Amino acid sequence: MAAAVVEKVINTTMGDAKQRQMEGYRLEENSKTPLTTYFGAKVENTDIALRAGSRGPTVLEDFHNREKISHFDHERIPERVVHARGAGAFGEFKLHTALTGITTAKILTDTSKITPAYVRFSTVNGSRGSADSVRDPRGFASRLYTEEGNWDIVGNNIPVFFIQDAIKFPDLVHAVKPEPHNEIPQAQTAHDNAWDFMSLHPQSTHMQQWVLSDRAIPRSFRHMQGFGVHTFRLLDADGKSTFVKFHWTPHLGTHSLVWDEALKLAGQDPDFHRRDLYDAIEAGSYPKWELGVQLVKEEDEHNFDFDLLDSTKIIPEDLVPVKNIGTLTLNRNPDDYFTEVEEVAFCTSHIVPGMDFSSDPLLAGRNFSYFDTQISRIGVNFPDIPVNKPVCPFATNLSDGHMQTQSKKNRTRYHPNRHDALPVTAPQHGGFRPYAEVVNGIKERMHGPKFNEFINQAQLFYNSMSETEQQHIISAAQFELSKCFETQVQQAAVERFNMINHEFAKAVAESLTSVTVPAPAKYHNQKSAFLSQVNGKSQTFTAEGRKVGVYVMEGFEYSQIAAISAAMQAVPMMVKYVGPGTGPVKSSSGETVTAEFTFENSRSTYFDAVLFVGSPASDQSYLKSAKNGRLIHAAREAFMHQKTVGATGNMVGWLATMCLPGDVQVSQDVQDQTGVVTAVNVGSGAQFAKTFIDGVAKHRVWERDVSHIAA
Ligand code: HEM
Repeated sequence: MAAAVVEKVINTTMGDAKQRQMEGYRLEENSKTPLTTYFGAKVENTDIALRAGSRGPTVLEDFHNREKISHFDHERIPERVVHARGAGAFGEFKLHTALTGITTAKILTDTSKITPAYVRFSTVNGSRGSADSVRDPRGFASRLYTEEGNWDIVGNNIPVFFIQDAIKFPDLVHAVKPEPHNEIPQAQTAHDNAWDFMSLHPQSTHMQQWVLSDRAIPRSFRHMQGFGVHTFRLLDADGKSTFVKFHWTPHLGTHSLVWDEALKLAGQDPDFHRRDLYDAIEAGSYPKWELGVQLVKEEDEHNFDFDLLDSTKIIPEDLVPVKNIGTLTLNRNPDDYFTEVEEVAFCTSHIVPGMDFSSDPLLAGRNFSYFDTQISRIGVNFPDIPVNKPVCPFATNLSDGHMQTQSKKNRTRYHPNRHDALPVTAPQHGGFRPYAEVVNGIKERMHGPKFNEFINQAQLFYNSMSETEQQHIISAAQFELSKCFETQVQQAAVERFNMINHEFAKAVAESLTSVTVPAPAKYHNQKSAFLSQVNGKSQTFTAEGRKVGVYVMEGFEYSQIAAISAAMQAVPMMVKYVGPGTGPVKSSSGETVTAEFTFENSRSTYFDAVLFVGSPASDQSYLKSAKNGRLIHAAREAFMHQKTVGATGNMVGWLATMCLPGDVQVSQDVQDQTGVVTAVNVGSGAQFAKTFIDGVAKHRVWERDVSHIAA
């Protein structure tokens, strides 16, 4: 059966306030809506331009032709200068743990409210049409439409950044984008300029580790953490400040693709992440995240060996735990990509009363840059675009500008005025008042002294990885540097790696013939218990929301899959049938399942796990049909990508002899051979289902040796 699409009803609650507002802008056009010009005249013919004679010249007076072409000519707006490629969804946020006494922000203190929300996920480097699965940080820009105004946490899925000061941002982006002479390579940092920049900026060493790690190739947007990165402030009623870092933690766990899979997906399904989010929401499998805070008292600001104002550093969770305070659920796809995703405009400066910024110099630049770029991207009145409008009342003295659509009756656009129009609000009644910070210093181009230490947390990250994750970092570094053609660049990168870990540097250098590794540096050997995706303390492992490709052919034995499929759907997981063609596939006993994918139009990379269903033992033709290169490749490839692979009935023998000889033995009963779950006789299916689902929940079988598999 194809996944049912869940109809989202719009209620009169605060949680749906944004959708009620959006409804006013959504057009229901159908066969009863006549086509008109932009000015309302009904159109009689939109296929042939007005001509002087059927073979004569086209005439200028055809206003419909001119309007149609001219509007088309101006359809494109500039894409975002970074984070151009993205996908968005609406949802809601519910606070469950109030930060009473720490902030006056209602969104963080009132647990009775449901607040409308919106998130846009993105890649950083690639253009709008680039692929989703590239190695890159992911944007995680979230907006809560609170009663006190829009609050944006414009974060990434990586908690630190390449640079410490926004003045470096144009340099960084010019370096990591495709090289300027030939605009190659797209959407990736595997080139000389990116690595040259990083080697000349030791401050990027920590972020570089995260980008080489599996974090930069997430399994999906649903499996990503989000981080506000900067330190912000929360303010109580007396204006007292507490430092805060914001975290989004996915209920489904933080999981990644493997590199070979990511490379293939970039071609097989460039929309892999966008599609995954869209499909999950349409199927009612709504992704959820916990909003967490790390709180540091004002008086503890200097108790760390790093500066809280330095965005290249995390506050290790081992030092300051993350306290989860609320849940974000994404439950509605946009109706129109352009107006609801392309035109959304986030800014770090969108905060609400009860919050403020820290003096992080990167944050200061961002507070300026977003608004500034949006003026050229979507015009000065972009807050009036529906997706950007607050749901609370708003009124400004801002006036005019391109595409102003509001006719304000108030005749005074200044303050104060004789009518007392648009009065200001005192902080005790909800007016925004910035933190009264004592500032004292010499005006100079300088950072605090702790900004000059770059290596400790890079070492901490590498040390905290499991062996598998370290191997992935090594392979990623080998890949990236092998795409750099200047030895000087490779040498500088390896020297930096040596400051993190000598064995790491040596392993990378082995793949680069002209590079030498310096003597070991000083290493602190400390680890954090929270950074690994394999064994990190805050990690979640669940089969929920995972996609399983179930391969069937005409004449499959329904009893081999019926109970297993029902058990998976109950988790709930997404069961996707793959057949020789799309549409119904009939079992030997007459039941049908609907194949959404075919052997030819899909790849194992589309799924978290694959399962091959057999036929009644007497049916030899079934096995003949299974001698299909695509099918065999799917099994071998899923095995190579360390996924759970299953087979039932006579497909167990097929798997053991045709696909994975030497790696899998035939067994009558349920067996788990390093994540290959087989049973010639599935019986009731209950034990098979449990073993298979438990395998999927583990995400990958890292202990499986796949070095001999080519797929
Ligand atoms: C902690 C570091 C940073 C993070 C986490 C971050 C995150 C993001 C995200 C998530 C977006 C996409 C917003 C969307 O979905 O529409 C974005 C866009 C953008 N970022 Fe950043 N960014 C960082 C640093 C910077 C800095 C330092 C600057 C400039 C000084 C900057 C300038 C921009 C610009 C110009 C856009 C495009 C905005 C638009 O056209 O709407 N970012 N950033």
